[in-house]
Amino acid sequence: MAATEWFKDAVFYQLHVKSFVDSDADGFGDFRGLTSRLDHLEQLGVDCLWLQPIYPSPFRDDGYDIADYCAIHTSYGTLDDFRAFLDEAHRRRLRVITELVLNHTSDQHPWFQQARSAPDNPYRDWYVWSDTDDRYRDVRVLFCDTERSNWTWDPVAKAYYWHRFFSHQPDLNYDNPAVRDEMWRVMQFWVDLGVDGFRVDAVPYLVEREGTTCENLPETHDVIRELRRRLDAHAPGRLLLAEANMRPEDVRPYFGDGDEFHMAFHFPVMPRMFLAVRLEDRKPLVDILDRTPPIPDTCQWGVFLRNHDELTLEMVTDVERDFMYSEYAADPQARINVGIRRRLAPLLDGDRRRIELMTTLLMSLPGSPFVYYGDEIGMGDNIHLGDRHSVRTPMQWDGDTNAGFSRASPERLWLPLVTSPVYGYQAVNVERQRHDGSSLLYWMQRLIRVRKTSRVFGRGDMVVLHPANHRVLAFTRTLGSETVLVVLNLSSTAQCAELDLGAHDGAIPVEMFGGSIFPRVQATPYVLSLGPYGTFWFRLRWL
Ligand code: GLC
Repeated sequence: MAATEWFKDAVFYQLHVKSFVDSDADGFGDFRGLTSRLDHLEQLGVDCLWLQPIYPSPFRDDGYDIADYCAIHTSYGTLDDFRAFLDEAHRRRLRVITELVLNHTSDQHPWFQQARSAPDNPYRDWYVWSDTDDRYRDVRVLFCDTERSNWTWDPVAKAYYWHRFFSHQPDLNYDNPAVRDEMWRVMQFWVDLGVDGFRVDAVPYLVEREGTTCENLPETHDVIRELRRRLDAHAPGRLLLAEANMRPEDVRPYFGDGDEFHMAFHFPVMPRMFLAVRLEDRKPLVDILDRTPPIPDTCQWGVFLRNHDELTLEMVTDVERDFMYSEYAADPQARINVGIRRRLAPLLDGDRRRIELMTTLLMSLPGSPFVYYGDEIGMGDNIHLGDRHSVRTPMQWDGDTNAGFSRASPERLWLPLVTSPVYGYQAVNVERQRHDGSSLLYWMQRLIRVRKTSRVFGRGDMVVLHPANHRVLAFTRTLGSETVLVVLNLSSTAQCAELDLGAHDGAIPVEMFGGSIFPRVQATPYVLSLGPYGTFWFRLRWL
């Protein structure tokens, strides 16, 4: 097995240092805090941590507005603290990927300050300027709740600058080789420090061309290919993971011929998991899996249920979007842009059975799964906070002051803790769940451990079965001579399914959590009953 393909077997864990543990009582999480809590992540059994932006930033987009790419935000500590964290993570066999925001900087970045200062400043051409705001008219506005145009007038430069996100995030100009070289230097800086790769933010928007949507352009792929070539030559085995919130057929080119990204998030499958469980019907999910093109052998999908952004509904039909809003965000306060700003547990009404079903589904699909911090204990959200902060509140470690997140006075915390009766930190916290053998946390730990007993989950192919009962989703995952059968009841009532397992005639299904032996597969349909939201993982054995 190529060690360079470690990401195929990995379970990822996404966290924001800011929200994890605060060691110096300033109300912000930091690297020393994170380092002190690595036990939790090691016990959970995850393999790779994805850290959201850790760089100096005015925090107008929670750090995705970067003011210096090669430093640590002072609230998080020093570069030495980062090094100590990385060493400790690596000692525990935890890999670490960081965030690479290529598309834009903060308007506070010295490059932009230089660029705006004079038309002949060498940095002027690092950004995208125009005398008018009518270029690239066909381009949609992404943050439609806050921005009305992708152009903003800069009174200092006396010109408009281009931005796909907030107006304080000017887009870099990737037609300028100096920008591409500089971004490679940034990558090199972090790779030389030892990071294992990058989650690359907002990939589709790097290059602009008149008369196009300015998304997924061939020139954008050229930029990526060049960065990948440089990365492979300098430090083979480091990961590039794409955030490209696009249809599967538009994401596929980001894998190239195995010469662009190693991984890309599968955005469209995410809302369809929520649709399928609400409709109690596998169809939306199977449709998108059918529409997902094959990817090169050296590549991998990243699958997730929730992350730090809204549950985006850009990739579903209008009818599906209306349904999702009415079922999952009846309170308009839960909506933002084209999506829903809620965490996993509240989305599923705190129903443990549904949380387990969805998490089992996540861990069974082709690709490597991503767990969003706090979802392993079923943390709640606070939809009354601004922007997407609803899902970014401090990690709930225990039932003490500030949930064990910080010793600062509660007013100083960068975001207030969730305190609702159901999801508040006295009720939902790591310590409590560590003392409870039947907790969600223990269940997750076990799920991850069982997943790791077979490489089919990360590497196997998938064959979807089509039982007449459409409330049941069933598929096999096969790698070489090993096959795992996954059966999931998407509904709230008991179900029975007749599976055509003809291709596995004579096999004995062995349930993977307890080792129970099920009846041998015969030529006739294989009949299985499942309780509400019930799930099975079977290893098929030929004894
Ligand atoms: C990505 C990030 C999001 C951020 C945006 C602009 O989509 O996930 O949080 O706001 O990029 O940087």
